[in-house]
Amino acid sequence: MSHDNMSKDTLPESHDSHGTEVAAHGDPFADPGLPAHEPRRTDIDERAAKRAERQVSLLFILSMLSTVGFIASFVIFPIDKIVYIFPIGHVSALNFSLGLTLGVALFCIGAGAVHWARTLMSDHELPAERHAIEADDEVRADVIEQFKTGAAESGFGRRKMIRNTLIGSMALVPLSGVVLLRDLGPLPEDKLEHTGWKEATKAKPIQLINMNTNEPMKPEDIVVGSLSFAKPEGLEEDSHEFQVQIAKDALMLIRIAPEDIKDKESRDKGFEGILAYSKICTHVGCPISLYEQQTHHALCPCHQSTFDLADGARVIFGPAGHPLPQLKITVDEKGYLVATGDFDEPVGPSYWERSR
Ligand code: FES
Repeated sequence: MSHDNMSKDTLPESHDSHGTEVAAHGDPFADPGLPAHEPRRTDIDERAAKRAERQVSLLFILSMLSTVGFIASFVIFPIDKIVYIFPIGHVSALNFSLGLTLGVALFCIGAGAVHWARTLMSDHELPAERHAIEADDEVRADVIEQFKTGAAESGFGRRKMIRNTLIGSMALVPLSGVVLLRDLGPLPEDKLEHTGWKEATKAKPIQLINMNTNEPMKPEDIVVGSLSFAKPEGLEEDSHEFQVQIAKDALMLIRIAPEDIKDKESRDKGFEGILAYSKICTHVGCPISLYEQQTHHALCPCHQSTFDLADGARVIFGPAGHPLPQLKITVDEKGYLVATGDFDEPVGPSYWERSR
């Protein structure tokens, strides 16, 4: 029978006129109190407690082994080894192994701690009275006492196997971070100072290849106000090193009426008003792709650094610290645009050893 259908006369004494339960003294929200504590198996059976202790320790030991496996992965797997893992597909063996071992190491510490808390630590519920946020000395002393009691009840000092394996697993996990430092090396030496254009010489120039058509470029392909992108001859898109190389070699070509080019040195590096600048922003390396033909400004979409391409690609706005490096270009005997050397500056963001 629902309360709606129940008449006042038929309501039991412990309900008000709306059918709400009330305590004997009339409080509608009487504290039901804590349920009686039910001991767990591990509380009453020392063998079960020992078994739980071994399980917790096993998880911590697994964590230690996984951390050792993480470190061993660095030594065992070459960086370019690819393996097939079902159902993921082809993955880097090194990355897969690092992820798996570190995941297992952290998971086992977490699972061991949870299992320890659920089976062996004290599970007595205690009511906590609400009180002012700032505790007085007496309460603080009481909290410290409770903390000590909790520490004693957790068995951290008494259950030496758990304590020692936990300390071992926690001590080993940071080693994973230490071996990651290996990825900071080896030092790049002069790789940051040169690009794929460095092979170009006057005797053996390198052609500029249009990134869209994959064809060599001629000056007449580039009209005033246009923006084109180029890569060095011989850098094929399906080659293994394409992504690495194009991040340094990418060129941005514009054509400006020679009389509008303010910087003479920049004009001399171009060919009949065609100027070739690095496409890589000197702030943090985003590819630049926005060009305003009226002002000759190139804008980096990442943080709005703006370069004046008619004035040596000088920075006129934004966080970039250097002008865009320029590539000296000319034409070969067949009339194709070619480079005869590397950029005049290292491309991309600044770095600590940049000398110029
Ligand atoms: S990367 Fe170009 S402005 Fe930041």
